[in-house]
Amino acid sequence: MIYPIIAYGNPILKKEAEEITEGEDISALIKDMFSTMENANGVGLAAPQINKGVRLFVIDSNLMLDEDMEEKGIRRAFINPIILDEYGDAYSFEEGCLSIPEVRAEIIRPEKLTLEYYDENWNLKEEEFSGLTARVIQHEYDHLEGILFVDYLKGLKKRMVKSKLIDISKGKVSTDYRMVYP
Ligand code: NI
Repeated sequence: MIYPIIAYGNPILKKEAEEITEGEDISALIKDMFSTMENANGVGLAAPQINKGVRLFVIDSNLMLDEDMEEKGIRRAFINPIILDEYGDAYSFEEGCLSIPEVRAEIIRPEKLTLEYYDENWNLKEEEFSGLTARVIQHEYDHLEGILFVDYLKGLKKRMVKSKLIDISKGKVSTDYRMVYP
């Protein structure tokens, strides 16, 4: 099943998501999240973006990487993730979001992180991520905290996207995937 994507302006995107009970069967939800992400050509999707306020996101960082790049992407679900540490040189990278179509902005984040999470079989993992995979995880993790990438913008950059954000929240945007507007 492909879910419509919740657009900027919906309060669920600003809410902290709830932990999922360990062992709960969420395999159908995970499958649907991958389908929804792929249908929208996204590299990541967090549960609040399909109106589910739970701590779950899926990513496929392969889509961001060219074959000749050294980094290998991953396609994976992350349940109840906790960022244990972020480190390395912070760098700027242009981000976008399926909930905020047509808006892109340079965001500064640390290069690496250590993440504790459950995989889709409820195996507890602790793993280090770097490069573009880390970047996608940081963006999706923020969704579970009710933080959007545009929240990091300040001053002129913030003013520049403001009218676009208002348009999105009013449904004045066109996407090739289905969206739900506030
Ligand atoms: Ni996003």
